Amino acid sequence: MSDVRVLAAKTLVQVVDGGRSLNDLIPQYRAELDPSQGGFYQQLVYGALRHYLSLDELARRLLNKPIQRKERVVHMLLVLGIYQLWKLDLPEHAAIFETVDATKPLKKPWAKGVLNAALRRFTRESDALLDKLQNREGYPGWMARALRQDYPDHWQAILANGNLQGPMTLRINERRQSREEWLARADTEGLAATPCEPTPSAATLAEAAPVQAIPGFVDGDVSVQDEAAQQCTWLLAPQNGERILDACAAPGGKTGHLLERADIDLTALDIDPARLDRVRENLDRLNLNANLVAADASDLKAWWDGQPFDRILLDAPCSGSGVIRRHPDIKLLRKPKDVDFLTQVQAHLLKRLWTTLKPGGRLLYATCSIFQRENSAQIQAFLDKTDDARLVPLELTGDAEVPVGVQWLPQPNGHDGFYFALIEKTTTG
Ligand SMILES: C[S@@+](CC[C@H](N)C(=O)[O-])C[C@H]1O[C@@H](n2cnc3c(N)ncnc32)[C@H](O)[C@@H]1O
Repeated sequence: MSDVRVLAAKTLVQVVDGGRSLNDLIPQYRAELDPSQGGFYQQLVYGALRHYLSLDELARRLLNKPIQRKERVVHMLLVLGIYQLWKLDLPEHAAIFETVDATKPLKKPWAKGVLNAALRRFTRESDALLDKLQNREGYPGWMARALRQDYPDHWQAILANGNLQGPMTLRINERRQSREEWLARADTEGLAATPCEPTPSAATLAEAAPVQAIPGFVDGDVSVQDEAAQQCTWLLAPQNGERILDACAAPGGKTGHLLERADIDLTALDIDPARLDRVRENLDRLNLNANLVAADASDLKAWWDGQPFDRILLDAPCSGSGVIRRHPDIKLLRKPKDVDFLTQVQAHLLKRLWTTLKPGGRLLYATCSIFQRENSAQIQAFLDKTDDARLVPLELTGDAEVPVGVQWLPQPNGHDGFYFALIEKTTTG
């Protein structure tokens, strides 16, 4: 079994220097740990990435000379040590001792003195060092500027809320039981949960729990899904007998919800065949079925039989800027040019998928982004150039005024940041 701090440091090197995503790394690294250490490993990695830009700034100030490039794992141990002292409720001497001790399995005795001196200096000078921090919230400059421009009144709260841990929210499978029934069952089993407003299928746990400990999870009575993601199905409102397209379906959270809501003929597409396997697994657990197709949704010739759809869910690939609290690596991995590229992909998907919608049919455009370029500006541009498209007003209240659609911003202990726009194809053109 490996040392938890060493593995966490190696994970940081892979994300920060290698551009790898946490989703790929966590399962691989957790398998190398004693299961009892898994929670602490995740706490270290998520927390250190959440605050990485601040921690890196502090680490550089604490060192007399920077740690050599080829010794990045030692730099990351220092980052983790500062994180533990600054943000975790651990006894100081234990945090320092364990971090310094991690140099042993790494066989880098020279690093012992460097880490010890830097961490002890942090404990002595933390107030002054933290006062001088340039990047207190740990967001890249371009991202903070974009949010400030999009939300002059909310951007500071957005940055702060993006650094909090998101709650664990469940979707109650109404085919099996009502939300009230499941809440009563959870209460009997000693699990505290509260219903979410305004999303009738959602309940948030007072404390996160392993899925196996959640009543009915294994049998598909409930799924883990944020309230915002659940809203998509309520807004698209599938009706029995309809032919529906879930255009960007993997890993299938919304695919399952659509099928729970109504008896529909559902086609679930995704460009990534490996991710489509996850959709299959999710549907198997729920005992539901869809026509799963691995294809580029914009390449109609590759997958469309020419039969139009009554409703389409376009849960578009996006920057993920609304779910940074759940994926803090986004802060480091995403670059401005990625957002340029994604806005083009979104526009192309919208344009192509529109032709597969029936007159009178509805398309829900959703993203887990809070950048307006991917959201209201994208939809406004689409409406401006599409004669047979009409925006359907939503009864859902947004967290910030936007020109079209509804924008949710990440809320402490509440929903993720998400954007929704419902568009109808007019019959007159
Ligand atoms: C936001 S995620 C979808 C999440 C999913 N709807 C859910 O609820 O679990 C976006 C998905 O779009 C897929 N994707 C990206 N470009 C695509 C394209 N051109 N055609 C189809 N799928 C695409 C990605 O592989 C990714 O799985």
